[in-house]
This record gives sequence, C-alpha cells and structure tokens, in this order.
Amino acid sequence: MHILAIETSCDETSVAVVRDGQEILSDKIASQVELHKKYGGIVPEIASRKHVEVINPLIKEALEAAKVDFKQIDAVAVTYGPGLVGSLMVGICAAKAIAWSLDRPLIAVNHLEGHIYANFLVPSSKSQVPQFPFICLIVSGGHTMLVLVKEHGDYQTLGRTRDDAAGEAFDKVARFLKIGYPGGPIIDLLAKRGNPHAIEFKRPMMEKEFGYDFSFSGIKTAVVNYVSKQSGVSSKQVTDLVASFQQAIVDVLVEKTIRAAKEYHCSWVALAGGVSANSLLRESLKTRAKKEQLMVSAPPLALCTDNAAMIAGAAYHKLKQGKISDLTITAVASLRL
Ligand code: KG4
Ligand code: ZN
Repeated sequence: MHILAIETSCDETSVAVVRDGQEILSDKIASQVELHKKYGGIVPEIASRKHVEVINPLIKEALEAAKVDFKQIDAVAVTYGPGLVGSLMVGICAAKAIAWSLDRPLIAVNHLEGHIYANFLVPSSKSQVPQFPFICLIVSGGHTMLVLVKEHGDYQTLGRTRDDAAGEAFDKVARFLKIGYPGGPIIDLLAKRGNPHAIEFKRPMMEKEFGYDFSFSGIKTAVVNYVSKQSGVSSKQVTDLVASFQQAIVDVLVEKTIRAAKEYHCSWVALAGGVSANSLLRESLKTRAKKEQLMVSAPPLALCTDNAAMIAGAAYHKLKQGKISDLTITAVASLRL
C-alpha cells in the first residue's frame, strides 16, 4: 500500500511516499525558513506563493526518490488544517487533482493528528511504537496540547495552551533577544552553554486547579522584563537567560505530561511537534518517565517538525477505517483534533 502525502500547512512544502503506514520511501521537504527569516516570522502571502512554485517539482522528486510511479500510488493524503488557508489550499488542490486523475481515494488529514503519527513511522523495533492508550504532548509553533490517544483516530484533548504555544514562546523570545529565527533550535543550542538555574522563572499553571492547560506568554514577558531591568545583557547573560527560560518551559511540559499519564493510567507517553526536537525536553521526559516506570516515544528529529511522511502515517490508519474524503474538502484554518 503506497500513500502519496502532501503537507503545506505552514512554511514547509513537503511530499512523501510511505509504504504500509510505516516505511518512508521518500520524504521531501522544501523549507522556506530563509525566505521568512528577514521578517522574523512567517508571511502568509509569501508562503503560499512559494508553495505554488515548488509543489509540482517536489511531487516529481518524491516519486523519483521512492522509485514509485503515479500508477503505483494507492491513495493520496493531504493536510487540510489547521494552518494558513492560502498555504493549505495549494496542497489540497494538488492532492485533489492527483486523486481525481488517478481515480484513487483522497484522505484529508488533520495536521495535529499527523504529528502524533510521526511516532508510528520507521520503527526500528516494535517496542518503540507507543501502545494504546497513551498520552501525547503535542508541542509546535502553533499548538501546545495534551491528548489522550485511546485508539487509532480516537482522541481526547485534556488541555491546551491558553495563550502562546511553546514554540511560539521560543520564537518570540529569540526574536526579542535578536538571536535568530526560528528561535527553538537556536535556544536549544545556546542553552547548552548556560546555567538553567541562573534565573528562577515562575513555572506557570502548575497548580492542580489549572488541569492540563498551559500558558507561556507570562514567561516570555518575564524574559522581556528581566532584560529591561538590566542595562544591556552580555552574551553570558543571554545564554543563562535562555537556559533558564527553556528549563521553566520544559519543567511545566514534563510535569503535566507525567501527571496525565498517571491520572489516565497510561504506560506510554509520546512527544510530537516541532518543539519535541528540543534536546532538554526529550532528555527530561525520558529521565522522569523512567523514574515513574513509563515508556517514552519521541519521533526521530527529522520527523518532529513539519513533514508529509507523518501525514501519510495518519492517512494509512484512516484509510483502514474507511475514513475517505471526497473532492469537496477545503482548508479549515482552525481545525481541531
Ligand atoms: O511542528 P512545526 O514544524 O510547525 C508547526 O506546526 O508549528 O514546529 C515549529 C516550531 C517552531 O516554533 C520552532 O521554533 C520549534 O518548533 N522548534 C523547536 C526546536 N526545533 C523546532 N523548539 C525548541 N527546540 C527545538 N530544538
Ligand atoms: Zn506542525
């Protein structure tokens, strides 16, 4: 079973061919980071134009790399939300055209569901695939949420951010400190040289009354206030600052994930989304989970950020459950899980 998947929800055009929901034959990604860098964030109009430019050559590349031709494609999958409408539409139109011309099923996939399914790809051993039910922490540039995954396609959202997503906080702090874009990977690297306890930022919404909701805009403001009180910050102070900021965010994410696993009697926790590439988050969750005798699944780094292979992974299970879309699907910017 070969699924051709297309992902264009944000600033990455990606096309993948995945066999049987697990084996990645190709996963081509055309990143637009360089294009948006000078604006310090994504410019939606520029993003959709770039998707239009690269989508067709990328489809060709993905098929060639997979050594599969159109005739061998059994189904076509595409992200239909959440994301930028103009960007999503480019992928949706391409996917519809291919599905229609090949007369193959079209499967519309929620981007967040795709992130979860990054955990089911390329398993080097069966034991690395999370077992149901499990808790998934989805942390990306647009979302931060804790989800109880009961079965394939059966989700219960336990909590989400009330303001900034974790990745958004990383990106905004990096922009404020003028250390580069996107902020997450840069802070991850810089923080390795800093003291994570130099500044004890308040860990927000840890009290039980907040359940599994998050809030990260307060820490971001605390960083801004800290810098405003100093007369300039040295590079040593910047590394301590980002290390302390990252530690505060990771502490909250890990604590709530473990808490949820215990409350919902899950023996597995999984990470998903761009921020799950964060080295401190991966290490801390593993260490904490070990103490609690929980198993951890985290996608390989390349599959944490946006890619089309994860969309194919999710689509495979939808197809098995008969969840096929028709050609009337359209982009849903604020699609929920
Ligand atoms: O999942 P993703 O590629 O796109 C969305 O769906 O949003 O996530 C992008 C986010 C960005 O905010 C980026 O700064 C963050 O993931 N990110 C990281 C790391 N790598 C990417 N954040 C923290 N540490 C990282 N190593
Ligand atoms: Zn994403």
